[in-house]
Amino acid sequence: MRTLIAGNWKMNGSRAMLAELDRIAEAASAYSDVDVAIAPPFTLLGEAQPHAGRVWIGGQDCHRAAQGAHTGCISAGMLVEMGARFVICGHSERRAEFGETDPLIRAKAEAAQAAGLIAIVCIGEDEHERDEGRAVEVVACELDGSVPPASTPENLVVSYEPAWAIGTGRIPTFDQICEIHSMIRAKLIQLFGEAGVRIRILYGGSVNAGNAASILACPHVNGALIGGASLTADQFVPIVEIAANVSQ
Ligand code: 13P
Repeated sequence: MRTLIAGNWKMNGSRAMLAELDRIAEAASAYSDVDVAIAPPFTLLGEAQPHAGRVWIGGQDCHRAAQGAHTGCISAGMLVEMGARFVICGHSERRAEFGETDPLIRAKAEAAQAAGLIAIVCIGEDEHERDEGRAVEVVACELDGSVPPASTPENLVVSYEPAWAIGTGRIPTFDQICEIHSMIRAKLIQLFGEAGVRIRILYGGSVNAGNAASILACPHVNGALIGGASLTADQFVPIVEIAANVSQ
């Protein structure tokens, strides 16, 4: 399975940051065994496309509807028109800040897939749930609730992102990552049969060049979704390089 290294710029980035994308695209062309993706803010999507080379450009969210009276929202089709190849659905920041629920996230992912996008569906426990020993249960439940039942390896990526590891510099242990990713793989096989083996599962939360090799070595970790360390080519490109070495 090809490793996917995806950057989520969140609400960061101005036109000046497209220079970072130029450098990321240049490096990505040297590592053709790795899929590389960047989700800039919506405002940069159209402008980012000519800078992207073989880097996939995508959105950080989309609406569940194709069009209509939804002030401030963006549809999956609009993302496609801007050259997007994927969209992140149900990031923990959207679940926490905007109250996004599993059924809503599933509807967004279905809208994304219907428009021809890859839906990167995010699931993950918060710190309280981890401390209570409920991480596996919570992640399994989010997976059941937010992954569209008609997904395929071509239009679905699952990203395990424990909320307590996002932007904190703290990461789960190797065993904790293995436990969750193995459970996700087993459930994907249960849901999708043989195709479930081929659906990529990313890890996200404080990934950097220092810890990427050990994270990507965990079984059923097929890539990473990266926030802070995707904002500069200096931090992001070494992770792509590590992924290229791991996937050899
Ligand atoms: P950090 O890499 O900054 O922890 O963010 C991870 C994330 O939320 C990616 O979507």
